[in-house]
Order: sequence, then structure tokens, then C-alpha cells
Amino acid sequence: MPRQIDSTKKGQRHMHLHKYEKYWLVFGVTTLVAFLIILGIGAFHQGSHPNNGKKTLDYEKVKEFAPFDNPGVHKVEGKDWDYEVVVLASAFNYNPPEIEVPLGAKVKFIATSADVMHGFEVAGTNINMMLEPGYISEYVTTVNKEGEFLIVCNEYCGTGHTMMHSMLKVVKPNESQ
Ligand code: CUA
Repeated sequence: MPRQIDSTKKGQRHMHLHKYEKYWLVFGVTTLVAFLIILGIGAFHQGSHPNNGKKTLDYEKVKEFAPFDNPGVHKVEGKDWDYEVVVLASAFNYNPPEIEVPLGAKVKFIATSADVMHGFEVAGTNINMMLEPGYISEYVTTVNKEGEFLIVCNEYCGTGHTMMHSMLKVVKPNESQ
């Protein structure tokens, strides 16, 4: 009789552990299924790229599409900003090679890459964008510091990475072209 009680206890303990194992199994499978569903929906509805919401384009033909068919500084009317600065980055330079905007202007930077990932960091300002092929990066800011600011690529992009830079010139309005 005591043996039977022992074995019953063992059996109960075993059942107890088994119950938790089952919970784990159910939890694991549920998590996996949920993950696959989320992944599936994500890939199906938004594409499997990580930058949802950004405008996209075919980077190999980027020079054919506005605004990247005309990089440079453009004065605009009727928008929430005064200037649009269109920048096309490629290994290992920026087009335009130099940007000049008047002090106090509200500027929208619109940039992308024509090949690999590049950075667009304007030293001494809070302008810092990642330029990915196929995606348009935008940043609106008011340039309220006069001077010359070095634009550097802060994403490793190849042998010329450290040579890749440009200049942002913020000048008093009467001095600008
Ligand atoms: Cu371009 Cu680093």
C-alpha cells in the first residue's frame, strides 16, 4: 500500500510538470504562429522593408525622377518652407557639392542615394539623415546660425567614405545670390 501511495504521488508530480511543459509548448507555438502571422501581414501589406511610411523610388533611375533630376537649392512659394534643398548622394560625393541658403530661412532637405547607403550629417547642426537607396529622406529646419557647416557622410559606404563631404553655407540674406 505505501508503494502505491508513493507511485501516485510520483504520478501527480509528473502530471504537474507535464502540465507546465504543455503550457510552455502552447506558449511557444502560439508565439511562433503569432510572429509568422505578423511577419506575413507585414510583408504582404507593407513590403518587408523596415522603413514604412517613407516615400520610395527606383534608385537606379533616381536621376530621371523629380526632384532628383534637378538637385540643388530651390526657392519655393506657397509651402510651409521657403527653400527646398534637393541632394543626391552617390559614392563618393553629393550633388550639389555645395549648398547655400540665407540665414533665417526655413529649409526642407530632400535627399536620397543613387547607390549604397550614405549619411548626411551637417556638423554643428541637428541635421542628420540616413540616405538609403530607394527611399527619400526629408528634414525641415530653420537655418538660424550663420556660417559654413561641413556636411559629412556618417555611414560607411566604401573606399571613398572618409572623402565624402560637402558644405552648407548659411549667409546673411543680402549676401546670397
Ligand atoms: Cu558615403 Cu560614407
